[in-house]
This record gives sequence, structure tokens and C-alpha cells, in this order.
Amino acid sequence: MNADENDPKARVAAFYSRIATTYDQIGPTVFTTFGQRIVERTAILPGSRVLDVAAGRGANLFAAADKVGSTGEVVGIDIAPAMVQETQTLIEQRGLLNVSMQLMDAEQLTFADNSFDHVLCNFAIFFFPQLQQTLNGFCRVLKPQGTLTVTLPASGDARWRWYNELIGTYYEQYQLPLPPLATGAQPLLDVAAFTDLLKQAGFSDIHSTIEEAEFIYADEEEWWKAKWTHGERYPLENMPAEMLKQFRPEVLERIKELQQPDGYHEKWRIHCVIGQK
Ligand SMILES: C[S@@+](CC[C@H](N)C(=O)[O-])C[C@H]1O[C@@H](n2cnc3c(N)ncnc32)[C@H](O)[C@@H]1O
Repeated sequence: MNADENDPKARVAAFYSRIATTYDQIGPTVFTTFGQRIVERTAILPGSRVLDVAAGRGANLFAAADKVGSTGEVVGIDIAPAMVQETQTLIEQRGLLNVSMQLMDAEQLTFADNSFDHVLCNFAIFFFPQLQQTLNGFCRVLKPQGTLTVTLPASGDARWRWYNELIGTYYEQYQLPLPPLATGAQPLLDVAAFTDLLKQAGFSDIHSTIEEAEFIYADEEEWWKAKWTHGERYPLENMPAEMLKQFRPEVLERIKELQQPDGYHEKWRIHCVIGQK
């Protein structure tokens, strides 16, 4: 275990830096799809100023940039240096002068009070151990009547439940603890509990929707490679070589039961929660 692995934030930053170039780049574009969806759910007007917290490769950032137009501004922050660099390069390639990335911890925003019309945070809330304090910070940087849009995990695709169970079984067999990537205080926070935290942070008019989408992986290889491009890579890359050597063929054999004529279908579901300052 190297020094990074002992500090949860450094571990997360190092992990997302490792996958910055491949994140959402192999197989169906899961994060881009949900990024567009949550931006659609947020009433962003041309000319507004948007903060995308834990922006990654800009799944929300670029969708928000389309909405604010040339008179608005979108700022993304992320804790992983390579992710910031990668996304800044993508911004420059697209010639977007009013969109930028900064290296910053979501739990310690350095922006001025009342400076954004909208804050977005997609697929990241479980990384924040000081969740209440972090939500207070989101509220602080929002202008009055500004909105916060956050996604929370919802129950996954029952057809694939065996996959995570099998990972657990393998770690048990090797008498190793499941390696944690996210150490957020409430990884399985439900909407009601989260709504209470939002109210305490100063939000009102809170409502949520379930967002779901089914993605298709062309074949076993694409499905397996896609697993290495996001958070689900973490338990795989931490498997001792011997374990992974056994695990991979077993999984690739087992998924054949789920094969459909056009490939492998997997449904992703999230809660999209929106509150107003
Ligand atoms: C699953 S990705 C989501 C990225 C993007 N929001 C999306 O929807 O594709 C999680 C991102 O959160 C970032 N992250 C994790 N903890 C963070 C923190 N404390 N502050 C800022 N970014 C953080 C990671 O570096 C990573 O880019």
C-alpha cells in the first residue's frame, strides 16, 4: 500500500487521475448520457453562471455550456489533477472561452458567496465525508434562488446483481477486505435523508426524479474493458494477480447467459435531486 492509499482523498485523486483518459470512452457513454439528462432537468438559462462540482471529463460541464451559451460561464472543479488537465484540454479543443476547469476539493470551495446560478454534482456525492458541511458550501456559493442538482445512486440492474456478489465472494475466499474507494460518510444515502441535509444547508422546494437508461455493450470484451474506465475498476485493480486470473474467465463465461442479439444490456438508475436556495 503506498502513501496515497492511506489518505482517502489522495486515493480518490490518484485513482481518477489514472483513468482520466479512458473515463466514459469505452462502450456506451453512460456518464455523458446522465450528464445531459441532469442538465435538462435543471432550468439553466442563457447567460447564467454554472459550477460543476467533481466535473470529471465534463459530462455535465459541456451540456451546461450548450445551455448558457456565449454570454454565460461554466466552471468545473475536480480533485484529480489529470482529470482537470484532460478536461481543460477538451475545453480548449472545442474552443470554449467561457468554460474552465480548476483543481479544487468540493469540500473546500474557494469561490465567493452568491456567485453561481446553478451548482451541479453528478456521480460524486458519496466521495464527501463532511457531507453537511459540503452542502452548506454549495449553498453559500449559490445566488439567492439559485439551484443545486445532485444525483444519488438508486438500486441497480437486478440482472447484474451477481457481479458485485461474486467480487465479494472472491475477496472473502482470498481473506482480503474489499478495498474502499469512496469513503463518503453516507454511501447509500436515501433521498429522504438527503433532503433533510439539503434543508439544513438552506435549500427549499426540493424535488427528485428517478433517471434511468439502458446501455448496450457490443460484446464481452467491450463490457469488461468498460469496467476499467470508472469506479468499478477499483476492486478489479486491487485483486492479486492470481485472483484476477481466476475471476476474469469466470465472469466472462457467466455473462454469456445475459447475451442478447445486439449485445449485453445494463440498466443504470439514479435519483436526481434539485433544491433551491
Ligand atoms: C464518478 S466521477 C463523476 C464525474 C462527473 N461528474 C460525471 O458525471 O461523469 C467522480 C469524480 O469526482 C471527483 N472527486 C472525488 N472527490 C472529490 C472532491 N473531494 N472534490 C472534487 N472532486 C472530487 C473525482 O476525481 C472524479 O472525477
